[in-house]
Amino acid sequence: MSQTAIATLLAIATSFYFLLSSPTTKHSYHSFFISTALSDNVSVAHHLRTLTRRPHVAGSEANAEAAAYVLSVFTSCNIQAHVAPYHVSLTYPVSRTLSLTRPPPADSPITFTLRQEIYDGDPYADVANQVLPTFHGYAKSGNVMGPAVYVNYGRVEDYATLKEMGVDVSGSVVLARYGEIYRGDIVHNAYEAGAIGALIYTDRKDYGGGGHDTKWFPDDKWMPPSGVQVGSVYDGAGDPTTPGWASSEGCERLSYEEVEKAGDVPLIPSLPISAADGETIMRSIDGKEANKDWQGDKDAPIYRVGPGPGVVNLSYTGENVIATIQNVIGVIAGTEEPDRFVILGNHRDAWTFGAVDPNSGTAALLEVAERLQKLQKRGSTEWVEENREILASRAVAYLNVDSAVHGAGFRASATPQLDELLKQATQQVQDPDNSSQTIYEAWVGSSNSPVIGRLGGGGSDYGAFVQHIGVPAADISFGKGAHDNRFLIEGQPHFKANTPAEDTQYTTQCTMTSSGWKNLGTQCSKDSCRTAASVWGLVALRLADEEFLPFNYLSYAYELQKSAKELEVEVSGKGISLSPLFKSIKELSEAATKIENQKKAIEEAKGWVSKWKRDHFKVRELNDRLMMAERAFTDRDGLFRRPWYKHLIYAPSKHNDYGSKSFPGIDDAIEEAKNLNTAESWYTVQHEVWRVSRTVRHASLVLNGVLT
Ligand SMILES: *[C@@H]1O[C@H](CO)[C@@H](O)[C@H](O)[C@H]1NC(C)=O
Ligand SMILES: *[C@@H]1O[C@H](CO)[C@@H](O)[C@H](O)[C@H]1NC(C)=O
Ligand SMILES: *[C@@H]1O[C@H](CO)[C@@H](O)[C@H](O)[C@H]1NC(C)=O
Repeated sequence: MSQTAIATLLAIATSFYFLLSSPTTKHSYHSFFISTALSDNVSVAHHLRTLTRRPHVAGSEANAEAAAYVLSVFTSCNIQAHVAPYHVSLTYPVSRTLSLTRPPPADSPITFTLRQEIYDGDPYADVANQVLPTFHGYAKSGNVMGPAVYVNYGRVEDYATLKEMGVDVSGSVVLARYGEIYRGDIVHNAYEAGAIGALIYTDRKDYGGGGHDTKWFPDDKWMPPSGVQVGSVYDGAGDPTTPGWASSEGCERLSYEEVEKAGDVPLIPSLPISAADGETIMRSIDGKEANKDWQGDKDAPIYRVGPGPGVVNLSYTGENVIATIQNVIGVIAGTEEPDRFVILGNHRDAWTFGAVDPNSGTAALLEVAERLQKLQKRGSTEWVEENREILASRAVAYLNVDSAVHGAGFRASATPQLDELLKQATQQVQDPDNSSQTIYEAWVGSSNSPVIGRLGGGGSDYGAFVQHIGVPAADISFGKGAHDNRFLIEGQPHFKANTPAEDTQYTTQCTMTSSGWKNLGTQCSKDSCRTAASVWGLVALRLADEEFLPFNYLSYAYELQKSAKELEVEVSGKGISLSPLFKSIKELSEAATKIENQKKAIEEAKGWVSKWKRDHFKVRELNDRLMMAERAFTDRDGLFRRPWYKHLIYAPSKHNDYGSKSFPGIDDAIEEAKNLNTAESWYTVQHEVWRVSRTVRHASLVLNGVLT
């Protein structure tokens, strides 16, 4: 996650196989690709060290240097590469102050230093001054003063609880803890509740293992008391001044006033603060005792909700600048089908050093490039917006990696037609942490089938591909963060206070040493990074090389059926009919079966002869249908009041950008109808059900390929 998506993209031509100099079978060269023969032990670590030597926030000179490095590696791999610059609106902090006044008999007001400590022996201490002061990207500038109110995670339901307790939030500065929802939504929900400012802190209970005997970085994996999670609070996608179009030089741009009116940037100031500062403010809050599940760890004081009597004075000034960012685009052009691509991508800019998010991903991508080169023996929101029409007609799939490695355990999210392929690819690659099993076996664990996430969340580069134009996509990484509630330390000094925004994932940290990564109690090594490169590259090569695109739409129908069943429970008794939706899903399932049979028929008609003796046109026509079916889930008008989000199956939910729900439009409508409870609001829910049903039906029509 970054202020605005900035990417390294590698487009691999379909039929990569035909670019190989020596004839070989596809199967054997795919095995060769993932074998250790192509991978050395130093490359990944070297890339990572070079990319993370300095903090490289978007728009900085250090990030331009990192782009030049990526370009040079691509070029040295004989990959045609170029830099596509965009001119985007970014924000940087200019000044911040925070003070707390407590009622007598307390002493004089406390002024917080807002500084993260550098630890003894930090090998990156010399460049620590290049780390930006802690702030929220796209935060509102202003000075506000008000009593502090503790609002737990700042979710809509937390404000409902406060209301039941009779606590008035209006005019207050809320103290929320990081954890359950996207920080932009924490600020937005605070504004909706009438607060004038928001402070978001890192509670030890969520990020520190609990208890004051906890050790922290660099002695253990937890974030130190002065560590601060930074990140963006923007609720939209890409550059806020160019919603839906590319930020090229001299392009049309909204004024900042217009951006504020559009409603995706916060309208009240906010600051991220440390566990230590959060606790100091917490101690100044009196009033009713907060619920049990709002409390801290065993050594924490009792949390109360306020308001006050502690009064917070928060002031933040940011500057809006138009900065140049660089997408590095590498293209391996094909000979057989030069108009089709599989795209691999990762953003490059980091809030600080980015050892995990995103540069473990960048290092893995460079490793993929190097291996492809050896085989041959010879940012994306803005980029997507600009190349929308070409991508919509030519991109086969987009494969994303933000953080290649932030712990142990394989994790994948995908649009469902890729499920089978992911399962198959992981069955071919060995688990880096246990040589007697495959990644698949480790991933499945004791269940029958692995858990594959979906791509409805915001905050990563796949968003533009899936949610804006409907390109099938996958996102992979090592590190099961979502459930283990820890904090990511993104590299070295200053604790890189950035939970990878891609999730509410509080992952473990890796620090990089000259031999790779220092491993603090978790499996996090350059071997994992190389393994990520193996899976990533293998999935790409299978997509590029299979005669028939390895897309299975039966999985899609199955997933939709599951989500529709969940919906049934939510709307029961409200007079909503889901039968159009179930009917369209049944049609999709039939179309998916039919196209599988057609595939078999083409194969059988020609028998086991060389693919080029088959009816090439028929194969291509069938692949077109497989490729374009995903586009059919997009709707020209997009989601209600969120027109950038065209995909009606996967998009962020309105009150939590990280939430990955299916049917976001129906979900938003239900949320609103539950609040208003009018006939009209429930009618809107029914309308959204119809809209989704129509796109699902369109997808089955595309798969069928026959005019109605
Ligand atoms: C590379 O590392 C692996 C273990 O990760 C080891 O088995 C192998 O011998 C190493 N190769 C070289 C050339 O150091
Ligand atoms: C609040 O903080 C601002 C900025 O530091 C300062 O100018 C102002 O005087 C403070 N207000 C009070 C009442 O202390
Ligand atoms: C390694 O994998 C094997 C096969 O799945 C399993 O039996 C064994 O317990 C695993 N070892 C560890 C340390 O997890």
